[in-house]
Amino acid sequence: MILKEKIRELRARFDGELAKAGTPEALEALRVAFLGKKGPVTDLMAELRNVEQSEKAEAGQLINTLKNELSEAIVKTGEALRAAALAAEIRRQKKYNPTLPARDAAGSYHPITLVQRELEEIFSSMGFTIEDYPEIVDDYHCFEALNIPKHHPARDMQDTYYIENGQLLKTHTSAAQNYIMKKYGAPLRAIFPGRCFRNEAIDACHENTFFQMEGIMIDENISISNLIYFMKTMLSEVFRRDIKVRLRPGFFPFVEPGFELDINCLICGGKGCPSCKNSGWLELCPCGMIHPNVLKAGGIDVDRYTGFAFGLGLTRLAMMKFGVKDIRDFNGGSLSALSQFVSE
Ligand code: DAH
Repeated sequence: MILKEKIRELRARFDGELAKAGTPEALEALRVAFLGKKGPVTDLMAELRNVEQSEKAEAGQLINTLKNELSEAIVKTGEALRAAALAAEIRRQKKYNPTLPARDAAGSYHPITLVQRELEEIFSSMGFTIEDYPEIVDDYHCFEALNIPKHHPARDMQDTYYIENGQLLKTHTSAAQNYIMKKYGAPLRAIFPGRCFRNEAIDACHENTFFQMEGIMIDENISISNLIYFMKTMLSEVFRRDIKVRLRPGFFPFVEPGFELDINCLICGGKGCPSCKNSGWLELCPCGMIHPNVLKAGGIDVDRYTGFAFGLGLTRLAMMKFGVKDIRDFNGGSLSALSQFVSE
């Protein structure tokens, strides 16, 4: 039967092409080329018309089997490609070594930009918009609107740099909350990454300049469960593996209740090292349910809406993700540190 011959030939051609498909895009092109409406499998189906009545059933079965085998091979190869890409990404994350000489490279994204872009993608896929906000802000946005009145002791932890007109370098990305609430009203899902500044004594885990990424979600019936769900989804996407987290109570005037979300230190595996102040845990993401005073200041109807907020330490997350032990590597301008992030 000539059809059998055609099937065999098609199968051999497919196997040859499959072996060459090294990317998801190539694989998709292959699927369309062979199984698409204008592909050879569809042609074979059309040819069934010319097959003798007595052989039709068997011929139909053969074509169906071929179709199923090709689809299965494509799915399996797709899975293998994804697994290989993930393994390569994890290898890349583990090889940070700033004691190697600088690589001769034209330039690359800064590691914090890499992490920020990745988070933006994850949160946009969950329906969050990405917002920008200035680095120089006023006292109202940085403190008052966040339920931190003048002389509140919470201000002590956020000493910063003031300019003569009374404005200041923002100490946290929370400074944009009020502006964004007023801009969009409820319901609202937004993230806002940004550079923050504090008057800090500098060491391996403190810098006067660092990055955070704030997020807020406001809607009817938002609860702590929503908060935990979004945090877990985000962290598992970022680290592409199981990481241990713990939630403990934390105080921030702009949330009630407030939490500290810690992750198991990925540098020492929880044993304790300078990067985690020898505790085995790193404070990564303080969060909580937005305080009604903050919602009110943002013009949100507190009888109808609730919301959660989080302030992710982007710099710290980059340290964890890439195994950077010293925060000073990020802003120190060291080429041997930064050239490690040139993509292959
Ligand atoms: N803005 C706080 C800081 O930098 C972090 C923070 C805590 C942000 C709790 C939040 C939150 O949105 O809910 O210390």
